[in-house]
Amino acid sequence: MLRIGRLLLLLLASLPYGFLLKNHEDDDLSLATPQPVGGTPAQKVSGCPSNCTCPAEETVDCGGLDLHVFPGNLSAGIQHLSLQNNQLRELPYNELSRLSRLRTLNLHNNHITSEGLPDEAFESLQSLQYIYLANNKLTVAPQFLPSTLRIVDLAANRLSHIYPLTFGQKPGLRSVYMHNNLVNNTGLPFDAFNGSDAVTTLIFSSNRLTYVPQNLPRAIFRLHLQNNHISRIPKGALSSQWRLRELYLQSNNLTNDGLDSSTFSRLKNLEYLDLSNNNLTQVPGGLPANIVILHLGRNHLNTLPSERLSRVRSLQYLLLQGNTLTATGVHPEAFSRLRSLHTLHLYNNRLERVPPGLPRRVRSLMLLHNQIAQIGLHDFAATYALVELNLSYNRLYSAHIHRLAFRKLKRLEILDLSGNQLTLVPAGLPSSLQVLNLQKNQLNSLSPELLVNLTVLKELHLAHNRLRISSISPGTWQELHGLKLLDLSYNELSYVPPDLPESLENLYLQHNRIVVIMAEAFLTTPNIQVITLRANRLLAANVSEAAFADLKWLEVVDTTGNPEPINISLLQARRWIPTQTGT
Ligand SMILES: *[C@@H]1O[C@H](CO)[C@@H](O)[C@H](O)[C@H]1NC(C)=O
Ligand SMILES: *[C@@H]1O[C@H](CO)[C@@H](O)[C@H](O)[C@H]1NC(C)=O
Ligand SMILES: *[C@@H]1O[C@H](CO)[C@@H](O)[C@H](O)[C@H]1NC(C)=O
Ligand SMILES: *[C@@H]1O[C@H](CO)[C@@H](O)[C@H](O)[C@H]1NC(C)=O
Ligand SMILES: *[C@@H]1O[C@H](CO)[C@@H](O)[C@H](O)[C@H]1NC(C)=O
Ligand SMILES: *[C@@H]1O[C@H](CO)[C@@H](O)[C@H](O)[C@H]1NC(C)=O
Ligand SMILES: *[C@@H]1O[C@H](CO)[C@@H](O)[C@H](O)[C@H]1NC(C)=O
Ligand SMILES: *[C@@H]1O[C@H](CO)[C@@H](O)[C@H](O)[C@H]1NC(C)=O
Ligand SMILES: *[C@@H]1O[C@H](CO)[C@@H](O)[C@H](O)[C@H]1NC(C)=O
Ligand SMILES: *[C@@H]1O[C@H](CO)[C@@H](O)[C@H](O)[C@H]1NC(C)=O
Repeated sequence: MLRIGRLLLLLLASLPYGFLLKNHEDDDLSLATPQPVGGTPAQKVSGCPSNCTCPAEETVDCGGLDLHVFPGNLSAGIQHLSLQNNQLRELPYNELSRLSRLRTLNLHNNHITSEGLPDEAFESLQSLQYIYLANNKLTVAPQFLPSTLRIVDLAANRLSHIYPLTFGQKPGLRSVYMHNNLVNNTGLPFDAFNGSDAVTTLIFSSNRLTYVPQNLPRAIFRLHLQNNHISRIPKGALSSQWRLRELYLQSNNLTNDGLDSSTFSRLKNLEYLDLSNNNLTQVPGGLPANIVILHLGRNHLNTLPSERLSRVRSLQYLLLQGNTLTATGVHPEAFSRLRSLHTLHLYNNRLERVPPGLPRRVRSLMLLHNQIAQIGLHDFAATYALVELNLSYNRLYSAHIHRLAFRKLKRLEILDLSGNQLTLVPAGLPSSLQVLNLQKNQLNSLSPELLVNLTVLKELHLAHNRLRISSISPGTWQELHGLKLLDLSYNELSYVPPDLPESLENLYLQHNRIVVIMAEAFLTTPNIQVITLRANRLLAANVSEAAFADLKWLEVVDTTGNPEPINISLLQARRWIPTQTGT
C-alpha cells in the first residue's frame, strides 16, 4: 500500500480504494479455506490430528498451534489443509505427496525454506487449486507447481528467481501474489506466464524490477508493480493487456524518457493509474480515455499543458499534489475537457495564485500548502459545483481576498482557510457553508455582517487567533442557528463570550485568559455537552456553580490547568475530568 504520510491520509480518506475490484470471486484469500462453523466446537472426526480441528471429513485445520513438525498420518482423502501460523521449517515429501486430493494448502506464516519444500511432491497433488506460502523463508520459487492451481501466494519470502513452471502452463490460474520478494527482471523468465492465459491479478509490488516485464499475461485485470526500481516501460509491454483496469506503478523511478505516447494508449479499460512518487517531469502522453483515477502526485511536474489531459474524458479524480506546479505553468485549457472531474488535489505545489480554468464540475478542491497570496473576483467564478475547498496554509491576507470571490459557490459546505494571515473573516461567505475553519490566522475581530446568513453552519474553528471579548461585536453569533461546535481556544478571551447560539453543543475555550465564569455564562446554550476551560486563569471563587446548574446535557467540563482546582458538579455527573493544577 501507499506510504501514509499526513497528507496522503487525506487522499486515502477520499479515494474509493477497491471500488474497481468488486465481484472478483477468486481474490479473497480467506474464501479459499472453509472456516470451521462458528460457535459450536468442531466435531471430532476420526483421524483428526491431535489439537487440530476437523470440521468436516476432508478438512483439517491445524492453524496457529505452534507446530514444529508436519502432522503425521493425515487421511489421504483430505481436501483442505490449514497449517498457517506455525513453526514449520519443512514439509516431508512422503506425507505431502500422499495427499493427492488436496485442493487447498495453507502454509502462510511459517519458517519454510526452499530446501524444506519438496517440489517433486507437488507432482502428485493433481487437484491443488489454492496454495498459500506467504511469509516463509523461501529463496527459490518452486520449480514446478500443479497445473490445476487457481491462486498462488508466495508473497513476503526472499525469492529472486521464478521458473517457467512456477506460474506457467496453468490454464486456470487467476491470481499470483509475489509482493515483497527480491525478483529482478533477470529472475523473471520470458515464458513465466506461458500457458497461463487466465491470470487476471498479478501482484509484484516491492521487488527489484527495473522495467515493466514484457511477457505479462494478456487477460490481466489488476497489475501491481509499485515500489520496485522501474525506470522504463519497454515498447509493447502493455500493448495487448487491453483488459487492464488497475495499474499501480507508484514509488518507482519512472522518467518521461522511460515512456512514450503509446505506452498506455492501448489500455482501453484502464480505470486506475497510479504513477505517484516517480520522477516524471510531464504528464505522460497518450493516456487512455477511460481512466477514472489518475495519480501523479509526488513527481516533478511543473507545467500542465493544454492537450495532455484532454483525452482522459472519464477522469473523476486527478491527484497532482507534491509537484512543483505554478499557476503560470497551468494552461487555462488544461482541465477544460474534463467534464467528470470532481476531485482535484493540488496541495503541496508552488501555486502563487488559484490556477486558471479550474474544472467546472469540481466538487472537492485541495489547494492547501501552496503560496497563494490572493483570491480574485474570477478565480472561483465558474466552479459552481464546489462543495469542499481547502486553502489552508497559503499566504492569504484579508485585503487580498476579493469581497465577492465566493459569490458563485452556492453549494460550498466546507471552507478551510486556516494557517493564513487573515485578520478578518472573509466577506460574502456562501450561506450553504457547514464547516468554516479559520484557525491559525491573525483574526482580531468578529462582527455579525461577516457571519450573516450562515444559518446552516455547524462548525466554526477560530482557534489560535487574537480574539478578545472587546473585539467580538454584539450580535456576532445571532444568525448561526445551526452552530454545534465553536472552537475559540488559544485566543485572548477574558470571559465566556455572551449570547452564544442555542444550538451549541461543543465549546472550546482552553488556553485563553478567562478569569471568571458568571452565573449567566451558559444561559443561551441549554444544549451544551462539552465545555473545555483548560489552562485559563480561573480561581475557584470566580466560577459560579449556577452557570452549570441547568445544563442537562453537559457531559464534559475540563477545568484542568487553572491556577486553582475547580469543582463543577454536573447534573449528568458522567464524565467530569478531575481537577488538577499546573497541567
Ligand atoms: C496438544 O496440546 C497440548 C497442550 O497445549 C500439548 O501439551 C501437546 O503436546 C499437543 N500435542 C501435539 C501432538 O502437538
Ligand atoms: C501413524 O500411525 C501409525 C499406525 O497407526 C503409528 O504407528 C505412527 O506412530 C503414527 N505416526 C504419527 C506421526 O502419528
Ligand atoms: C538479479 O538478481 C540476481 C539474483 O539476486 C543477481 O545475481 C543479478 O545480478 C541481478 N541482476 C541484475 C541485473 O541486477
Ligand atoms: C512462450 O510464449 C512466447 C510468446 O507466445 C513464445 O514465443 C515462446 O516460445 C513460449 N515459450 C515456451 C517455452 O513455451
Ligand atoms: C533511477 O534511474 C536512474 C537512471 O534513469 C538511475 O541513475 C538511478 O540510480 C535510479 N534510481 C533508483 C533508486 O533506482
Ligand atoms: C530522476 O531522474 C534523474 C535523471 O534520470 C536522475 O538523475 C535522478 O537520480 C532521478 N531521481 C530520483 C529521485 O530517482
Ligand atoms: C484541509 O487540509 C488540512 C491539512 O491537511 C487538513 O488538516 C484539514 O482537515 C482540511 N480541512 C478540511 C475542512 O477538511
Ligand atoms: C444574506 O441573505 C439575504 C437574503 O437571501 C441577501 O439579500 C443578502 O445579500 C445576504 N447577505 C450576504 C452578506 O450574503
Ligand atoms: C475573582 O475572585 C476574587 C477573590 O474571590 C475577587 O477579588 C475578584 O474580584 C474576582 N474577579 C472577578 C473578575 O470576578
Ligand atoms: C472537589 O470535589 C472532590 C470530590 O467531590 C472533593 O474531595 C474536593 O475536596 C473538592 N475540592 C474543592 C476545592 O472543593
